Amino acid sequence: MSSSSTAVTQAHFEYVRGHTDPEDPFLEQLKQAALAAGIPPIWIAHEQARLLQILLRSARAREVLEVGTLAGYSAITMARALSAGGRVRTIELSAKHAAFAREWIARSDVAGAIEVLEGSGAEHLARVPDRSLDAIFIDADKRGYPHYLEQALRAVRRGGLVLVDNAFAFGQLLDAQPTDPDVPFVRDFNERMAACEQLERVIVPVGDGLWVGVVR
Ligand SMILES: C[S@@+](CC[C@H](N)C(=O)[O-])C[C@H]1O[C@@H](n2cnc3c(N)ncnc32)[C@H](O)[C@@H]1O
Repeated sequence: MSSSSTAVTQAHFEYVRGHTDPEDPFLEQLKQAALAAGIPPIWIAHEQARLLQILLRSARAREVLEVGTLAGYSAITMARALSAGGRVRTIELSAKHAAFAREWIARSDVAGAIEVLEGSGAEHLARVPDRSLDAIFIDADKRGYPHYLEQALRAVRRGGLVLVDNAFAFGQLLDAQPTDPDVPFVRDFNERMAACEQLERVIVPVGDGLWVGVVR
């Protein structure tokens, strides 16, 4: 048996999507409404959302914090995977995105389990008590990631999850001349994660690459 990995192509991603629990109609409607409202379609991939649910269920997560709400897609997804009495608090800088997310969260089946915190990730994270979170999902401004990681290592309990999106830098991670100005920040952050001894960590190649870390 070979120890090398299969080179994952776009066709593999599509195969993975086709063999993952399907999306539900409510979340499809949310995405359509977000597009119609001029919100960019930068939510996580459907199969990535399913993986987040499996990870949160396995960790029996109750207290989850997200940085980067956008339209509320990942927040609703994660809230559906929490243990009884759990909640997702999700931080969003844009007033427009926060208002849209609040409206759709209110219509969802997990309305009582999600709170949208308007403002910057740094501002809200500073108020989170030490070791009070079961999981954090970081999916916002890439320049802020080193600070969010520092805060995550303080705020997430031992055995809790540190989940971070966009390890593949919008598909440009390995490009010689990337066009997206955030690519260097993602590369630096990936090096920081790779060197972070406080976490057991791996990049899972779903969506745009998901860092999965467990606090030692
Ligand atoms: C990639 S989107 C989040 C997608 C969402 N997690 C999902 O998958 O459904 C990133 C969001 O982070 C927000 N954002 C950018 N900078 C931020 C900051 N400093 N603090 C909090 N949110 C920020 C953006 O306005 C945007 O809505």
